[in-house]
Amino acid sequence: MEKKSYTVTAALPYANGPLHLGHIAGVYLPADIFVRFLRLQKHDVAFICGSDEHGAAITLRAKKEGVQPQEIVDKYHTLIKHSFEKFEISFDIFHRTSSELHHQYASEFFKTLHEKGAFEEQKSLQYFDATYQQFLADRYITGTCPKCQHPNAYGDQCEKCGADLSPTELINPTSTLSGNTPELKETTHWYLPMNNHEDWLREWIQKGSMEGEIIHDPKTWKNQVVGQCMSWINGGLRARAMTRDLDWGIPVPLPNSEGKVLYVWLDAPIGYISATQQWAIDNGKNWKDYWCKEEAKDRKLIHFIGKDNIVFHAIIFPILLKAHGDFILPENVPAYEFLNLEGDKFSTSRNWAVWLHEYLEHYPNKVDELKYVLTSIAPENKDSEFTWADFQTRINSELADIYGNFVNRVTVLIHKYYEGVIPSAHKLTTYDQKVLSEIATIPGKISDLLYQYKIREAQQEMMNLARIGNKYLADEEPWKVIKSDPIRVETILKVALQITEKLALCSRAFLPKTADTLLNMLQINSEDWDLTESMLISGNSIGTPTILFEKITDEWVDHEKSKLITTPITNSKYPIMKELISFEDFTKMDLRIGHVIAAEKMENAEKLLVLKVDTGIDERTIVSGIAKHYDAAAILGKKVVVLMNLAPRKIRGVESHGMLLMAENSEGELSALISDRDFDFGVTIA
Ligand code: 2FM
Ligand code: ZN
Repeated sequence: MEKKSYTVTAALPYANGPLHLGHIAGVYLPADIFVRFLRLQKHDVAFICGSDEHGAAITLRAKKEGVQPQEIVDKYHTLIKHSFEKFEISFDIFHRTSSELHHQYASEFFKTLHEKGAFEEQKSLQYFDATYQQFLADRYITGTCPKCQHPNAYGDQCEKCGADLSPTELINPTSTLSGNTPELKETTHWYLPMNNHEDWLREWIQKGSMEGEIIHDPKTWKNQVVGQCMSWINGGLRARAMTRDLDWGIPVPLPNSEGKVLYVWLDAPIGYISATQQWAIDNGKNWKDYWCKEEAKDRKLIHFIGKDNIVFHAIIFPILLKAHGDFILPENVPAYEFLNLEGDKFSTSRNWAVWLHEYLEHYPNKVDELKYVLTSIAPENKDSEFTWADFQTRINSELADIYGNFVNRVTVLIHKYYEGVIPSAHKLTTYDQKVLSEIATIPGKISDLLYQYKIREAQQEMMNLARIGNKYLADEEPWKVIKSDPIRVETILKVALQITEKLALCSRAFLPKTADTLLNMLQINSEDWDLTESMLISGNSIGTPTILFEKITDEWVDHEKSKLITTPITNSKYPIMKELISFEDFTKMDLRIGHVIAAEKMENAEKLLVLKVDTGIDERTIVSGIAKHYDAAAILGKKVVVLMNLAPRKIRGVESHGMLLMAENSEGELSALISDRDFDFGVTIA
């Protein structure tokens, strides 16, 4: 087979949170299967990824966790990298965009583009938060979507209707920093005039041709990718700013650009190149062989991404690569749809997710099982759904009952009849020959499917080997024939073992651990990858039979489902969220603003104050444990929030009617919750 060369990238995950199964099913696992398969076919592949560590995704998270952005990216880069390693995603490098090398190279790339006149400098009015003295990145502004009226659209996109927005289109914009209405202020940025690139993009996306030369086959692109790109182009591309006013990112390497950084979607895909450079340095290679027109003329560049990244990889990055001039363009951009979880979207903020690192911590020996399930439901052409019940069914009735059972039957019988020594085949029946020629076609089918990025069907073909094997054993019944024709059984079990061998080899891209176990058992050197000739040697011994896949119990499923409902997000600084309550539960609380009209320290009680509070409907006594934070004089005259209908309780002999609400910080300091408008006491809180 002709050996080809590939540079395969998988979307750089934002280092702002852990990976969940949706990320894995919709980018990393398909890419890994594809790459493993290419490597098995001895093509020359570089598999590149790393973490995306700039942009508002990071700074917003840092703000939420109350730490510096660097702390966030360090934490999540490490977590993500380890998860990928444990899940055996076989990147050649997992780099990071906060690295020195990336900063240098992204700056250089930007300067080259600038020198080549790829940008237009434009002044524009952008939202500015006067309280924070800061221009607001798109994600720092929310407002009502002008297209669908969704009240919480972002400055760059409405997540409800998918509309691509600019901040000034939002109705009632609000700064997420201060909660105030931002003002418009003039700023200068470098724009990529995407509108100038429509013509060649059309040719390249629809016909695969560039300057008259066909450089990729457009039929191999997913309809969805071509469709989305064409609808963008037909709608008219607009100039997009490639720089931002932000203090986290790669400084714009031009004079008079203080406080400006490269747009994250400019810097992140350059991260694929800088990651390759790092890998080349570490491995004595020349990075240009993987990216550049001259050196990598025949190389195929493939970007595996999620559907929300299509425009960036199939329009913006190709424009940048072409404008730079030294680079090849992607051969394909396989984009995946989204995976849902138990009937709902994965959501980090609602913690509606199965986190990869948690799964791996709890079930370190169930890596292939998860790979199998996620490949079976890979969201190739439409969104798909992960449920724990389906996870159980696929493992129990497919992996265990079909795959595991077949391998187990063959190996147990070989041990039983021949003490584990591989028998020789004698005269083959027509049925034997039919089975052997049928299994010989399967590697080719898997290969064809994988080159079309159809990993679900490809994995099905692998499973068909186990199905064929089970049927063969059931038809031939060696356990019965052994009594009448033991010589025939030698042939049957040799044929069955050849099916096992093929199954092991074809599993390598999908179930690498299982494949290794099996190949070890069959004494096949895993470096060999011969799908045409059997490598089994009669007379060699095979290892002892093992249970390849344990069944998943109902308790497992129940446990995982219950975690999903009640596990809140934790971080070290703030306490975990309590269990959800209903709206009815909430409305049972009667909260009002009260006025503290008398206060005194309770004798012999360090923490307690006895207060008299005017609530508008009564004057009541409340014993409050705030004495360490407020002395009587400090709270006297303050307006406070009172939980009115808390059942009265005697505290140190004094009956307390209600409770004061206070905010408590991580140091345990208390602060009275006083309304920031000058509301009179007695008003209710709703
Ligand atoms: O959508 C995302 O998660 C982005 N961090 C993907 C970046 S891919 C590339 F351009 F680096
Ligand atoms: Zn909308």
